[in-house]
Amino acid sequence: MGGLTFIGAVMIAAAMISSAESSITTFSKAFKPLYGEANIVSYEDEGSVEIAMDETTSSGFHSKQMYTQGYFETSLKLPESYTAGVIVTFYSSNNQKYPYRHDEIDFEFLGRARGGKWSLQTNFYGAGHVERGREERYDLWFDPSEDFHRYAILWGPDWITYYVDRVPIRHVNKVPSIRDEFPSKEMRLYATIWNGSDWATAGGKYKMDMSYGPFIAKYSDFKLHPKTFGSK
Ligand SMILES: *[C@@H]1O[C@H](CO)[C@@H](O)[C@H](O)[C@H]1NC(C)=O
Repeated sequence: MGGLTFIGAVMIAAAMISSAESSITTFSKAFKPLYGEANIVSYEDEGSVEIAMDETTSSGFHSKQMYTQGYFETSLKLPESYTAGVIVTFYSSNNQKYPYRHDEIDFEFLGRARGGKWSLQTNFYGAGHVERGREERYDLWFDPSEDFHRYAILWGPDWITYYVDRVPIRHVNKVPSIRDEFPSKEMRLYATIWNGSDWATAGGKYKMDMSYGPFIAKYSDFKLHPKTFGSK
């Protein structure tokens, strides 16, 4: 099959978002700490969470459930100021369950040097084929540290669409050359903040400077909408 068109992806997301009231969830309902628990602050009343990196630890969380396809959205406000080397993520993976043939769909924010911009990278892997990078990088049309913006992954049986503020920025169809490199097995959602000084910002030229820390990323308005997209 030819997969989904770009407009199709926009329409599906619109339909899923409007029917997604029931899929709105809070941090404490849907997620739990992965590491660096001392640096994770949950705001029960907002359903939101902050994860921080300081001199003691980085941190991250993951979903309690695994999902096979669906629409997964978070609002996210990135750390302010100089954040070179600081990587902030929102992604799905099953590397714990399938260590040598894992799947992954990623948003990775790659820090910001002085006077520069945060760069956003998308990527995906299937069946452990990590040798084949499918990264794409983008400049955002806003400052992602000034306010919350929505980042979403729509993962279907044979397509993936990445959204920023509900605008599709990348659409991947499972064309024959992708084959088993397309994510197919159930995954958890993850969000992390960590030191990627080796490669993140300008290829590692600018490193993390802890005198600007602690670096804090705040996530809210989670929409987890597992879905089977009808028979094919
Ligand atoms: C961050 O990572 C770089 C590169 O691996 C390392 O040299 C540096 O010590 C790390 N910084 C901290 C505070 O862990």
